[in-house]
Amino acid sequence: MKIKITKSPTSRISEVNFADLPFGRNFADHMFVCDYDNGEWHSPRIEPFHNFSLHPATMALHYGQAIFEGMKASKTHDGVPMLFRPERHAHRMNISAHRMCMPEFPEDLFVEALSKLVAIDQAWIPEEEGSALYIRPTMIATDEFIGVKPSQSYKFFIFTGPVGPYYPKPVRLWAETEYIRAAQGGTGFAKAAGNYAGALYPAKLAQDRGFDQLLWLDAKEFKYIQESGTMNVFFVINGVTITPPLTGGTILDGVTRDSILEILRSEGKPVAEHAISIDEIVQAHKDGTLQEAFGAGTAAVVSHVSEIGYRDLLMTLPPVSERKIGTHVKAMIDGMRAGVIEDKWGWTVPVAVEELV
Ligand code: COI
Repeated sequence: MKIKITKSPTSRISEVNFADLPFGRNFADHMFVCDYDNGEWHSPRIEPFHNFSLHPATMALHYGQAIFEGMKASKTHDGVPMLFRPERHAHRMNISAHRMCMPEFPEDLFVEALSKLVAIDQAWIPEEEGSALYIRPTMIATDEFIGVKPSQSYKFFIFTGPVGPYYPKPVRLWAETEYIRAAQGGTGFAKAAGNYAGALYPAKLAQDRGFDQLLWLDAKEFKYIQESGTMNVFFVINGVTITPPLTGGTILDGVTRDSILEILRSEGKPVAEHAISIDEIVQAHKDGTLQEAFGAGTAAVVSHVSEIGYRDLLMTLPPVSERKIGTHVKAMIDGMRAGVIEDKWGWTVPVAVEELV
């Protein structure tokens, strides 16, 4: 399928203050759109960024058939736009689509659309450290119908926008013991819009108590750590970097999570993917063996955790200046994206700009 490109006659870029980029508030000039009807995707196109007009009965608005991805484009120091592991994101989008009874989107078209969109809007990629062009591929159900069944029509779109850090400082996490994010057999592994909606109320309660985000525990016993909703979580205990396993389908298979595990394993550092209970964290904190905790995600990159609240306990972690692992993996990922650290995995994919300009 050929992507039809219609360029915007004007740019809004001069309206954006690149020295102050709050996360998620600015949007670049173009977007990619593709429609699904009668069992096939058609009309892939890049167009000037625009609003959609939606019928009030649009199914995504009622029953939540809505999934998305989060990616980032960066620029190397010599100005080449780079994507990070785009095929893995394309594949994960289809894992989410499958769970939400939505059609798969062709993965090669996903990557081609991304590359072309980023090439066209490459001037929007910020160059400040900690900034990037955030990319939001999304799929929604578009049938105009109010009965509960899978939609027959869908819209897939990708838009982008320059962002600064999602968490500008280390985060305080609240280990949640009343509400759950995901249960075995549910949709926790999918990047489904509803997973985020269900988390808003408990996250607000935690924010009212001064925490930034939740540390989700399992749905059966409120014991085993899952993830943080906006990011996967890692702990360094006695020199071993531990993260909860993906088994059980309650945790998002994070691209940053996977990259960190690969980096540490390749360096021969001790790494473990195993169930970890909040009691083990409390004990390690008491013993003084809890050296680090950090979150990992595309938006968050690597965000150090400064404190964890659990019931009537507040655990303060060692200062960031002592965090060897979290700081190292963040530097590795940022360095690969900036083209200053060798990417021996081929994760960074340069965008071919000359085809379009
Ligand atoms: C991302 O890390 O890109 C995400 O989609 C998480 C989102 C809550 C910002």
